[in-house]
Amino acid sequence: MAETLAELYEELKDCKRCPLGKTRTNLVFGHGNEKADLLFVGEAPGHNEDIQGKPFVGAAGQLLDKLLNSIGLERSQVYIANILKCRPPQNRDPLPSEIETCKPFLSKQIEIISPKVVCTLGRFATQVILDKNISISKVRGKRFEGNGHYIFPIFHPAAALYRRTNLDDLKADFLTLKELLSSKVDELPQKEEGSEQLMFF
Ligand code: URA
Repeated sequence: MAETLAELYEELKDCKRCPLGKTRTNLVFGHGNEKADLLFVGEAPGHNEDIQGKPFVGAAGQLLDKLLNSIGLERSQVYIANILKCRPPQNRDPLPSEIETCKPFLSKQIEIISPKVVCTLGRFATQVILDKNISISKVRGKRFEGNGHYIFPIFHPAAALYRRTNLDDLKADFLTLKELLSSKVDELPQKEEGSEQLMFF
């Protein structure tokens, strides 16, 4: 089993475990700092990401960079991954079978990086990571317990490109994110295997 991101990438780079392996241009493994305290999880690569093989390289990515800069962070200090590593044709929603196939690799990335905060971007990533069918508007800006890290859902930056109110909420949630990142390591949640996820308000 892979113990580093480089080893995990070797396991995944020629992936044909689901049909997206046939239609992608590049697999988008994830990018950033292997020792990051902050790991973002998006939905799936779009057109630009598929071409370049890197996550969040389009307009949503530029906004993500600005939001990071607003709390004194650079992209090189964080890690960015997606639920799916390959682009669904025409950017359609990921299928349950694709998520099931790809999720163990994201779980392994989270385990290797061991961040303080897993920040889920938008409804899709949030529902998959929390394993709950919930509305992003209800949970954004709230912290949840993961195993050794917090889970912090926020709007997807692409949603904020179209709605000013979403952008205001995103900016506010980044300030909360900054506070969460300053939590001491011994304050981070340690869940027992199989225990319920607790929610903090
Ligand atoms: N949207 C996502 O969810 N992920 C990307 O990598 C790019 C856009």
